[in-house]
Amino acid sequence: MALLELKKVKKVYRQGKIEVPALRGIDLTVEQGEFTTIFGPSGSGKTTLLNMIGCLDTPTEGEIKLNGNKVSKLSQKQLAMVRRYNIGFIFQAYNLIPVLTAYENVEFAIRLIDHSKELQIKEKVLKILEEVGLKGLENRRPNELSGGEQQRVAVARALVKEPKIVLADEPTANLDSKTAADVVKIMIKMNKELGTTFIFSTHDPAVMKYANRYINLKDGMISTDERRG
Ligand SMILES: Nc1ncnc2c1ncn2[C@@H]1O[C@H](COP(=O)(O)OP(=O)(O)O)[C@@H](O)[C@H]1O
Ligand SMILES: [Mg+2]
Repeated sequence: MALLELKKVKKVYRQGKIEVPALRGIDLTVEQGEFTTIFGPSGSGKTTLLNMIGCLDTPTEGEIKLNGNKVSKLSQKQLAMVRRYNIGFIFQAYNLIPVLTAYENVEFAIRLIDHSKELQIKEKVLKILEEVGLKGLENRRPNELSGGEQQRVAVARALVKEPKIVLADEPTANLDSKTAADVVKIMIKMNKELGTTFIFSTHDPAVMKYANRYINLKDGMISTDERRG
């Protein structure tokens, strides 16, 4: 059974009387452990597609299955539970909680689903922060960290709950090319070590090259889908 399956997924946004077709029939299967990049020009539907996969929104038509479970027609409350237990998110603007330290941002994410003892949570959080290269910076708040460091916190936050799938929407768009490559390499490392499935959108060829699957979106449709390595 595939981890993720989309069949004829369409999304139409409505703005008053105007209909904007953002996805126009997406068929896609993603297997556990893949590191997939979705690329295409601005407006091609990358964010919309990730939002559908991430259960942040539901399609207008078509079916989405995660782990064999149909998620395309769930209520908002059910979607929130699917997200909480199965999906990690990394955003372009990092989206960390500004008043919390790096440690607390990661701890907050895991406390929602893991009710282990204080000490075990602490071990998990410190370990993942070390894995992403933030040892020694645990007590800094987001405004005391560089963009690359903030995005590493976001990667740790997405991974600490060991989700089936991590979705990253242009995660390196605000980073310089060297920092962007470093952040992507950390995601690759976590993908190899934990077997976590990654799907990330980008229009930066320099970060795309690390993926093992490339999906090109054009006008809400998949125009090419290639695997490598
Ligand atoms: N909430 C929305 N309401 C109306 N139109 C939207 C909304 N979100 C996205 N769109 C439109 O859907 C299309 C795809 O957008 P998006 O998924 O954000 O593309 P990308 O992430 O590739 O830039 C664009 O034409 C965009 O203007
Ligand atoms: Mg986008």
